[in-house]
Amino acid sequence: MTITRTPAVNLPWNGKMDTRIFLIGFMGSGKSTLGAKLARRIGYQFLDMDQLIEETAEMSIPSIFEEHGEEVFRKWEHDILLELCTREKLVIATGGGAPCHSQIMDLMNSHGTTIYIHLPPEALRDRLIRSRTKRPLIQGKSESELLEFIVSLLQKREVFYKQATHTVDGIKLQTETLVRLLRDS
Ligand code: S3P
Repeated sequence: MTITRTPAVNLPWNGKMDTRIFLIGFMGSGKSTLGAKLARRIGYQFLDMDQLIEETAEMSIPSIFEEHGEEVFRKWEHDILLELCTREKLVIATGGGAPCHSQIMDLMNSHGTTIYIHLPPEALRDRLIRSRTKRPLIQGKSESELLEFIVSLLQKREVFYKQATHTVDGIKLQTETLVRLLRDS
């Protein structure tokens, strides 16, 4: 999979930080919103993995799951990550499941800084209910089924998420908190 994107306009950043910042966490944890703000703040380019996959495949994520299946989607996530690890000055919002397969956590940790945006299951449920993004894994679930699903999947995924360089509380998380974390560590 080949990615084409124009670079962001770089604003001056005098701090010392890794050239790739990976935001990881469950669906609905705010990776894309925070990632875009962080990138603007530090003059890095922002890339959203899901968006890159959609643009490259010229299909929406739900259509990819439907037509190609989850396994193919996971392979594309891996391909995209490999390519992103060759680029500089990026803030990357990863898909919620990306860190949990194909040694992607190791790949990201050896090519940059990973930040796990942690939120409790109830907060994730509320955000996912409010979200307009179509997510195949949770489509058609009632509120109680959704909470049950989040609790169970989060438990499995946290094994991977917790390998992140940093874990931050996602409730009321501010861009400046991330900047401070990256600057001071
Ligand atoms: C997924 C999360 C989604 C997207 C796909 C699968 C997951 O990304 O990659 O629907 O497995 O958790 P977001 O975390 O941006 O919603």
